[in-house]
Amino acid sequence: MRRAATLLQLPLFLAAQAIGSEDVNYDPDENYRPRNVTGLDYYYYPWIGSYYNGSAVFTISDVEPQDDRSDSEIEEEGELELCGQLRNITYTWSYPAILAITETEPEDERPKNTNPIDVSLFTSYSNFTQYFSDYMDSSNMQTRDVPFIFESIEMSRYSFPTSRDTKPDFNLTVAEDTGNELPFRVTGSSELEQNPLGTLQMNMSTCSRTEGWWGVVPISLDDDLDDVSGGTNPTVQLTFDDSSASFSIRSWIVANTLAEEDEETPRISARLTIEFLGRIDAARSDVLNEGTPVIWTPSMGFGNNSLSLDYESGALAAAGVNIRQIWSILGAVLAYIFI
Ligand SMILES: *[C@@H]1O[C@H](CO)[C@@H](O)[C@H](O)[C@H]1NC(C)=O
Ligand SMILES: *[C@@H]1O[C@H](CO)[C@@H](O)[C@H](O)[C@H]1NC(C)=O
Ligand SMILES: *[C@@H]1O[C@H](CO)[C@@H](O)[C@H](O)[C@H]1NC(C)=O
Ligand SMILES: *[C@@H]1O[C@H](CO)[C@@H](O)[C@H](O)[C@H]1NC(C)=O
Ligand SMILES: *[C@@H]1O[C@H](CO)[C@@H](O)[C@H](O)[C@H]1NC(C)=O
Ligand SMILES: *[C@@H]1O[C@H](CO)[C@@H](O)[C@H](O)[C@H]1NC(C)=O
Ligand SMILES: *[C@@H]1O[C@H](CO)[C@@H](O)[C@H](O)[C@H]1NC(C)=O
Repeated sequence: MRRAATLLQLPLFLAAQAIGSEDVNYDPDENYRPRNVTGLDYYYYPWIGSYYNGSAVFTISDVEPQDDRSDSEIEEEGELELCGQLRNITYTWSYPAILAITETEPEDERPKNTNPIDVSLFTSYSNFTQYFSDYMDSSNMQTRDVPFIFESIEMSRYSFPTSRDTKPDFNLTVAEDTGNELPFRVTGSSELEQNPLGTLQMNMSTCSRTEGWWGVVPISLDDDLDDVSGGTNPTVQLTFDDSSASFSIRSWIVANTLAEEDEETPRISARLTIEFLGRIDAARSDVLNEGTPVIWTPSMGFGNNSLSLDYESGALAAAGVNIRQIWSILGAVLAYIFI
């Protein structure tokens, strides 16, 4: 009987493909978009929600040396000297980035994801264009072009296997409306034993080597690093509306350089801040509704957004958003930084 059902489904599938008006895989109870949208880089945009283009600025500060030796060794050999150029350093670099604020999967799919929204931040060495066509949807693309990814929960894409965790890496809370037409404000933290943030690489000065490469590992309070003074678990903050978004991640890290055999290289602890500012990619976003809970009226894949990705016909136009408001959040955030 199963076999017969499968055989019956095939002509139906082919008919739907031929007519081209029905996405047989589309399910309004899921958080995926219809798959009949052309020109959409599905690696980044498969879910219903809002997408923002911007850049992510990484800052390393409060650098302190870390000493792995035992107390007796330290007594014998003396305190570790961290060379001058590494002390009190603040090091900053940035990547182009896409912020995705999207619907969560339904409860029976991800029962432990109690978050109101999913948040992902994708960064790129190349502004997302250079490697995309060659490595689309492959893990190869990630290693080549994605220096850092943040996901509040491991995101699932159509093509990805289902060996995913159902538990979020960050617990998120949307502040209840406190006035009229405020942007959404979201806070979050992770109390996991292991810091869920991915490792990254940076270039900064070193004491002993010239290329300045450092491997950076985000750490948690549970990592038993008594000498990381003032360390806290990782936290996130997000402010967004249908025109712009600001997102920040704060964590503590340890970092070290590549060591030649027997070479003494410093290990440091530091504070890591990642700040994203971006504006809506209207052509790739659904219509964000006002008020909590955060919900979207799916538009990408429907009506005038079905097949076209040009700006004028995007969700922003459909939602009637005033383009001049686009920079309002960014303005507020920048004012805050400079005051
Ligand atoms: C795309 O799929 C959605 C969902 O199945 C459907 O409502 C829409 O009409 C389709 N658009 C086109 C152009 O086929
Ligand atoms: C680092 O900054 C602290 C506080 O500003 C200061 O007391 C200390 O002398 C500085 N250390 C170096 C090596 O510049
Ligand atoms: C993005 O990168 C590509 C390839 O490096 C380049 O051709 C293009 O001009 C860049 N676009 C922007 C907006 O920077
Ligand atoms: C989220 O909250 C739940 C319930 O308090 C807790 O069990 C879980 O460990 C938290 N998850 C994270 C990532 O902090
Ligand atoms: C670090 O420097 C190397 C060599 O100049 C370069 O290839 C690499 O892209 C740099 N990495 C970062 C994160 O800036
Ligand atoms: C946003 O970024 C995507 C991916 O790089 C790009 O294709 C799109 O044109 C950008 N949209 C806007 C409005 O800048
Ligand atoms: C959709 O496009 C058609 C043809 O360009 C236009 O007449 C109609 O007003 C559009 N609908 C919406 C909701 O933008």
